[in-house]
Amino acid sequence: MTASTTPSSGKQIRVFSGIQPSGAFTLGNYLGAIRQWVAGLDKKENFFCIVDLHTITVPQNPQDLLHRTRKMAAILIACGLDPQKCTLFIQSHVAAHAEGCWILNCVTPVGWLERMTQYKLKAQQQESVSTGLLDYPVLQAADILLYDSDEVPVGEDQKQHVELTRDIAQRFNNLYGETFVVPEPVIPKLGARIKALDDPTSKMSKSKAHIRLHAIRLADGPDEIRYVIKRAVTDPGREIVFSDAPEKAGVNNLLEIYELLTGEQRDAIETHFSGKGYGYLKQEVAEVVIEALRPIRERYLALIADPAELDRLLATGAERARAVADPKIREVKRKVGFIVTE
Ligand code: TYM
Repeated sequence: MTASTTPSSGKQIRVFSGIQPSGAFTLGNYLGAIRQWVAGLDKKENFFCIVDLHTITVPQNPQDLLHRTRKMAAILIACGLDPQKCTLFIQSHVAAHAEGCWILNCVTPVGWLERMTQYKLKAQQQESVSTGLLDYPVLQAADILLYDSDEVPVGEDQKQHVELTRDIAQRFNNLYGETFVVPEPVIPKLGARIKALDDPTSKMSKSKAHIRLHAIRLADGPDEIRYVIKRAVTDPGREIVFSDAPEKAGVNNLLEIYELLTGEQRDAIETHFSGKGYGYLKQEVAEVVIEALRPIRERYLALIADPAELDRLLATGAERARAVADPKIREVKRKVGFIVTE
């Protein structure tokens, strides 16, 4: 496969994305983000980060966080993120992320953060809102900008944060001279917003994946997948068609999952389900999901059984990430007028 390059410089396109080790990894994360990450592995230079610093912006149980972080690494590798082909690492292993966040904080007006949709949503759910939660998008900007990233593949819900990253990069460049690449968000045409199975008006979310009927978790076995999809919220009608109508959101979501996993055309899918009932649709979707997740689940179980090997892979990833992020943070420090000794 040929490598993708940027038109201006001819250098290989650099990709950065991140995922929080919060809750259980869902089918939404897989279809909305990770499948794209895997698809770009042979064409671009890729950095993928498990963002534990972001996760502690809302209260966490330390033991749970530790287990979830390793599980997330195992699941990402099981999904196809081969650590030989990309740099997969944990955010807190690379100190430049926190340092970069601090410096970027000092060029980011607080008003830009107060209007972030995710901040407003998450703040409503907290008894006490941490400063970290407000600052969350600046840390995300540091993640992306430290790697001179050209592209940031994300689901729809992260678009606003990537746009803020662009604003922060431009502001820093205006104040201190050309320093950061201004990155582009890359949102998939399909699957950018997989809906919750228990409420197709909202997105399927890792943080709600403990609610049994909310999501398919990537480590779920066949019986659980059948159980949850069978109970997915639909509508009182009978028509199995792709539709933007709010009342068809449940059926549309199931059809989108089917489309993404089978790769079939929409008209062929509608013909396949024509005259059938929702029970049949759910059975078919469940079987397609089970087959897609089976190899991922098997690889995941093998990887999680060897935590020492996972830690070794993550340490190698962190070393490769530091080789890029450390020189960049030194450049940033020089630009703002700090004495940089090494
Ligand atoms: P997070 O951990 O919530 O989600 C990881 C990725 O999965 C996508 N996603 C979805 N896509 C489709 N349908 C869904 N229901 C769905 N739920 C989640 C998200 O859009 C995301 O791409 N703030 C980020 C993590 C982050 C990051 C970064 C991302 C930190 N630093 C730098 C990109 C670049 C987050 O919380 O993602």
